[in-house]
Amino acid sequence: MLTRRCVLAGAAATTLLGNCASFRPYRSLGPTVAPGTVTKTVQVRLVAAERPTALPCFGGATLPLWTFADGVWPPLVRLNLGDRLVATLDNRLPRAGEHTSVHWHGVRLPNSQDGVPYLLQPPVRPGGSFRYAFSPPDAGTFFFHTHCNTVEQLGRGLVGLLIVDGDTTEPYDADIPLLLRDWRVEPGSGQFAAFATPRGSGRGGTYGMLRSVNGAVDPEILLPASGDCRLRLINIDPTRIVNIAVEGAEAAIVAIDGIALPPLTLTEWAMGPANRLELVLRAPPPGGVARLIDTADGARVELARLVGDGAPRRSSGFDPAPLRGTRIPEPDLGRAVPLEFRLQAADGGVAVSSAGDPQGAPLGEICRSNRTLWAINGRAWPDRADRLPPPMAVLERGRTYQFRLKNETVFAHPLHIHGHYFTVPRSDQRERPAHRTDTLLLQSGEEVEVAFVADNPGDWMLHCHIIEHQENGMMSYFRVV
Ligand code: C2O
Ligand code: CU
Repeated sequence: MLTRRCVLAGAAATTLLGNCASFRPYRSLGPTVAPGTVTKTVQVRLVAAERPTALPCFGGATLPLWTFADGVWPPLVRLNLGDRLVATLDNRLPRAGEHTSVHWHGVRLPNSQDGVPYLLQPPVRPGGSFRYAFSPPDAGTFFFHTHCNTVEQLGRGLVGLLIVDGDTTEPYDADIPLLLRDWRVEPGSGQFAAFATPRGSGRGGTYGMLRSVNGAVDPEILLPASGDCRLRLINIDPTRIVNIAVEGAEAAIVAIDGIALPPLTLTEWAMGPANRLELVLRAPPPGGVARLIDTADGARVELARLVGDGAPRRSSGFDPAPLRGTRIPEPDLGRAVPLEFRLQAADGGVAVSSAGDPQGAPLGEICRSNRTLWAINGRAWPDRADRLPPPMAVLERGRTYQFRLKNETVFAHPLHIHGHYFTVPRSDQRERPAHRTDTLLLQSGEEVEVAFVADNPGDWMLHCHIIEHQENGMMSYFRVV
């Protein structure tokens, strides 16, 4: 029985304990403190390049990953709340014309730093650089990835983690990121298969065939025995939706998409691509084993074994400490402006080949899909248009908007909003707890009303985070003025 209540922002911060995973693919980049400043500045250099890498899950093979840093996959950028991040991106990708950028997924940052090429910044061409600078306003678990030709770039591993510390109310006994990622690699083949197929893109997405957690197949993760461990699950897969459950240990959800909610007993939780799910789990006693499993589609796939290690830490009943509450403004539902967004399958005929804004920036070749398979409100992200389309809606800064999201297709779609978080009110239909999310997983045929305060001026993308769906039409943007 969980007895704690969510603690509001303002409670004293405490420090996190170290990572105790048996396999550690992480290395923190930074931090460096700029002399003479009160606010710390963390500087990192992200060098996008091809690096032959032998992750444990590749079984001895070395694959041509595209990554942001030498000797680590993926890199972890770790800050304290209040720190300023200065990240320089260098594009050293090996292919002519392969431009890139970095989108800081889930971070409520100034629009100019949001990393969407053509819309918000020039694409960073091979040999070029771009400097991002911002102070994340929320503590939590985030990640970063590119925003053009992402099927291939993310498919090859171009991704990193961003953790902003400062949300704990009491120390946990461990703090461990768990990255869920499939690879488009036939086991034993030692090479990438096509990152997407037309059949997959037109359906639920082209799933990988080699599943990994932290770069390994069903790894053993050592946890301090009988300790309360914070597990940061991050679905960095381009495609796969998982249904997370734990066998052999008590666990509570303490944050979704980086944002705290009062501890909620975990039974199971569906995570689409880009979703983060943070658990506090009471580790097994010394030598005991709990299992992280995926129960999607009625299957049972073991993702990782969680093994109790060392002397037992706690003997009290399980009552996990909550994370600190969020500073995201509360929507004013009484005065909300309604808008409707319908997620649809396209048949080619609804493509808005002529909808380009004559004033819009020209779109580069690799940001355009070559197929139109999906759409939002009858409009597919331009395939043959060579200019950016106008925004789908113009929102007034500071107002609450209520989006009615309707999935009119027979597949699930994790719908991502940039620069803001949806408030999902408690829903009786699907037993959804009230929470915040930046990527709402809509099941086939589902309709959900979400709300948020449009408090961040600029042009913000709204798209499916099954990257093949995004790049084949299910993408749009709105403007906050
Ligand atoms: Cu993580 Cu526009 O996406
Ligand atoms: Cu989708």
